[in-house]
Amino acid sequence: MTDFREDGAAALEWTARYLERVGELPVLAQVKPGELSAQLPAAAPERPEPFADVLRDLDELLLPAFTNWQSPRFFSYFAVTSSEPAILAELIAAALNQVAIVWRASPASTELELCVADWVRQLLGLPDGWHGHIEDTASTSTLAALIAARHVTGRNVVVCSEHAHSSVEKNARMLGMELRKVSADDELRMRVDGYGLDDVACVVATVGTTSFASVDPVRALAERAHAAGAWLHVDAAYAGSSWICEEERWSADGVELADSLVINPHKWLLVPTDCSLIWTARPDEWREAFTLTPEYLRTDDEAYSLADFGPPLGRRFRSLKLWAVLRCYGAEGLRSILREHVRLAELFAAWVEESPDWELVAPQRFSLVVFRRNGADEDNEALESRVNASGEIFITHTKLDGRYVLRLAIGNARTTEDDVRRAWEVLNKEAER
Ligand SMILES: Cc1ncc(COP(=O)(O)O)c(C=O)c1O
Repeated sequence: MTDFREDGAAALEWTARYLERVGELPVLAQVKPGELSAQLPAAAPERPEPFADVLRDLDELLLPAFTNWQSPRFFSYFAVTSSEPAILAELIAAALNQVAIVWRASPASTELELCVADWVRQLLGLPDGWHGHIEDTASTSTLAALIAARHVTGRNVVVCSEHAHSSVEKNARMLGMELRKVSADDELRMRVDGYGLDDVACVVATVGTTSFASVDPVRALAERAHAAGAWLHVDAAYAGSSWICEEERWSADGVELADSLVINPHKWLLVPTDCSLIWTARPDEWREAFTLTPEYLRTDDEAYSLADFGPPLGRRFRSLKLWAVLRCYGAEGLRSILREHVRLAELFAAWVEESPDWELVAPQRFSLVVFRRNGADEDNEALESRVNASGEIFITHTKLDGRYVLRLAIGNARTTEDDVRRAWEVLNKEAER
């Protein structure tokens, strides 16, 4: 078994050392599928092993198979940060193991969750009176929104942009709802007209689409949705965090009209996965969609349970890590990190624009740059493979009008101008090969 203090000190030391050297490790795991599985024992040990052996195997077996999301040169998907205060809070949350199924099962978890959701609501400039809580992911938050929308409207159709996240389609499929995708305009924004909404339960608008970070016209969509008796859900999973900065609030125009809104602090607010904030302007109706109290959970206190606001019963103490981040960085600290990410993205976009060999393929928004090398799709695809195989940077791609395009997403708190410059050098070096 373990000596908790001694093993704990070793685990913390391992963690601190990892964070110090993560920039020297390959960003994308350089292993082949099945390579790790072949080295792992086929069955669990019969006899107890020391925790030190777990740490040893972490280094010897697992480390090569990590894609290092904490690397300053991780530029894929949406780059994220697990910050030190949140890492420590996760440790303590695991030790406390609060399972907030009803208020009395963890008054602290329930009430801190309400508190931090409200703190973030204020920091983002969202309306008073919204009810916020935490789900694991934006996928679950949007699932809950579609359930609430169907409950309130009694309708079964979801409408979103062709560029909405796949979680909207997956959720509609899981719920047996019909999905209608609407085409986007030249700036990759969901069209507002040209389709009916009379039988629609929910219109999903996206602020910061996954592929291009484009921003749907939320105000116009909300007005149309409401005129037709539909629910308006806003997916701002990535870009919503930017609203802590006044200058990014242009993209929040009309969000105050939303019936629900999701933002992921685990994307761009320095909190490790999982932490997704979901607010609703209609808490009573939302709650009706989820409340179901079996006898064994009935209590005589008046307080309510956050399990009445979403699909799961058991709830992790996720608010602790968000609380730690908000307190240890302060709004000021968070703002300066996000501003630096946007500045670095603008810098990279400017290099792309200035070079005759490269092209910016979508307007640069927030901290994402979508670009391509002049030439064939196959060349861009091969270039992506080569830069990722170098281990120096990790980027991903998407398709725009059938063309293969590359994405550079900045979102790690350790990323500096030198890292972004390095990405540009690696891309150019590999392209010229
Ligand atoms: C706009 C948007 N919505 C939803 C999601 C899904 O997020 P999650 O992994 O938290 O379910 C993503 C993921 O990148 C996203 O970009």
